[in-house]
Amino acid sequence: MAEQTRFRLNESDIPQSWYNINADTPVPPAPVLHPQTMEPVTPDFLSVLFPMDLILQEVSTERYIEIPEEVREIYKLYRPTPLFRARRLEKALKTPAHIYYKYEGASPVGSHKPNTAIPQAFYNKISGTKALTTETGAGQWGSALSLACCFFDMDLEVYMVRVSYDQKPYRRIMMETYGAQVFASPTDRTQFGRSLLAEDPENPGSLGIAISEAVEVAATSGGSKKYSLGSVLNHVLMHQSVIGEESLKQMDLAGEYPDVVIGCVGGGSNFAGIAYPFLRENLRNGQRTRLLAVEPSATPSLTKGIYAFDYGDTARIAPIVKMHTLGHDFVPPPIHAGGLRYHGMAPSICSLYDAGYIQAVAVSQLETFQAAVDFAKSEGIIPAPESAHAIRAAIDEALEAKAREEKRVILFNLSGHGNFDLTAYQAYLSGKLVDYTYPDVEIKRSMQNLPKVELPV
Ligand SMILES: Cc1ncc(COP(=O)(O)O)c(C=O)c1O
Repeated sequence: MAEQTRFRLNESDIPQSWYNINADTPVPPAPVLHPQTMEPVTPDFLSVLFPMDLILQEVSTERYIEIPEEVREIYKLYRPTPLFRARRLEKALKTPAHIYYKYEGASPVGSHKPNTAIPQAFYNKISGTKALTTETGAGQWGSALSLACCFFDMDLEVYMVRVSYDQKPYRRIMMETYGAQVFASPTDRTQFGRSLLAEDPENPGSLGIAISEAVEVAATSGGSKKYSLGSVLNHVLMHQSVIGEESLKQMDLAGEYPDVVIGCVGGGSNFAGIAYPFLRENLRNGQRTRLLAVEPSATPSLTKGIYAFDYGDTARIAPIVKMHTLGHDFVPPPIHAGGLRYHGMAPSICSLYDAGYIQAVAVSQLETFQAAVDFAKSEGIIPAPESAHAIRAAIDEALEAKAREEKRVILFNLSGHGNFDLTAYQAYLSGKLVDYTYPDVEIKRSMQNLPKVELPV
């Protein structure tokens, strides 16, 4: 029989519900705290930023939440996404391992981000929101929310980290094509942005700063604008569960079950999206799949960050959550995986990692780009630098299986393509990229600025 490479599902296989890990997690995440009072946040506080449907999803412990028909209709533009067996990569590596990847770069904007941008725009639309604000690092999230706001006829302001705004004009043009307004952050549109520019007019910006600006604009809009976040929050991770639910069916079509499931982690949403449905199978149905989160050694929040309460943003106006953090004043090193430069991590991933249900590894920039190029040469797709972290780990797993002469079934999430990231590839190919490991002394320094939280026992 001919060897199958691509495992396709039908439109009718698009999941009917999102899966909520909070129904099954053995380690419930700590409460989310108000940034000033440090008391658990109330729905009133959150409702300044988010519509009630999303707040209810954020705290829900229902196992499944139905995907609205309007959202499924739009998902049909690109879902179910394909799952591939990387036969050519297996051959190139001469490994007995079977390598599979789920390709989220098949969405119109080239990443997994629309899986949550579409429902977030939808729930805002039906609650009467006229405009959204958000931040974007490399531009993938901003592009996805621009598309979603365009489909639901809402205005969008995107605060884009200044270095990316300057270096990645094509992502900005994409957002503008969908009708969004894009500003280089820090801007003079917010009090926080103005205070930073007064100190340093050349401030290159960071994701933490851009979040602060987008939150400030929504919080001071008198209710006319809401804020939308592309990762970290429970409801965002839950929307991404369509990736894992489809993968379960596709692995079934392939007649195999993964020994290890791998995803890169920035705020944690694409990793949780592919991994949590497999974790459910571990917790409820006796499977034993390893779940491996991969981060850059330049922003090692899981592997080196401290597990503590910290602010979600630099200006300390976003809620405080318990997470592995490098400190909210973290200044990201100039690595090319812009989407992985956040100082923290989704609280549910942190609690599961802390309790040993999830593993994590940090990989360096050069070995990551080497893996990206090897992958492109055998599988054809040029991966996003973020996704290349997952490829690095998948290749390492395959090489380890080869050394041990064991068959291993590896599944990783290819969260996006890198067609807009070619300057990064150019830098790599011309030998200009360098490795960077975040210094321990910087982490120690930032830890002195963590909020002093005392929870009642
Ligand atoms: C292609 C791609 N993969 C991964 C990420 C990391 O985000 P998350 O950890 O939420 O999936 C990003 C973020 O911008 C991205 O653009």
